[in-house]
Amino acid sequence: MKITYLGHATILIETKDKTILVDPFITGNELAAHIDINSLKPDYILITHAHQDHILDVEVIAKNSGATLISNFEIISYFEKKGLQGHPMNHGGSWQFDFGRVHYTNAIHSSSFPDGSYGGQPGGFIIETKHHNIFIAGDTALTYDMKLIPRLVGPLDLAVLPIGDNFTMGVKQAIIAADFLECNTILGYHYDTFGYIKIDHKNAQEQFAKDHKELHLLPIGDSLKV
Ligand code: NI
Ligand code: MN
Repeated sequence: MKITYLGHATILIETKDKTILVDPFITGNELAAHIDINSLKPDYILITHAHQDHILDVEVIAKNSGATLISNFEIISYFEKKGLQGHPMNHGGSWQFDFGRVHYTNAIHSSSFPDGSYGGQPGGFIIETKHHNIFIAGDTALTYDMKLIPRLVGPLDLAVLPIGDNFTMGVKQAIIAADFLECNTILGYHYDTFGYIKIDHKNAQEQFAKDHKELHLLPIGDSLKV
């Protein structure tokens, strides 16, 4: 499984034969100016919650690619009114897609669309394929519920955790989250994009290393494999 960081909370996941995009916010991110959204042709777009910095490019990319959206019921209903097609879920539920099983997990955050309409409760995702399990936390505080995840799906190959603080967990909480998740390989996201969430990369990686965990901070456009 190949995971490409496209800036902020945008992740591109390539399984053996499917491409899954998570929370596309590219055209609004100066740091991701070198990423061309027209080059993205995902089969699916996963959306954790309705905030602008997670949905900005959903419509354009979905229309370009014909991607199926996967999110909570309220977010799918919102985009269906705009002519897109999606698969609605809610917390605690899972569904077998052609690339693997997706679980919609708990997040503590808020979730309204830029126009003020209700986005349901925010979430995260576990993607469970034949060979790999990855967890994408979404925007969230540290929650004790994270302990349930390895119990539910077994060992995780990768946890994608917000580390920018202020709007979500910061580094200190993300290290505890990694403990709860029983996962020592972390991809950090939701940092540096705005002034409120700028972090010291070296210090963050040292903090994780002290706890025998590896924090990947990928340059935008770079990939890692699990
Ligand atoms: Ni948010
Ligand atoms: Mn956000």
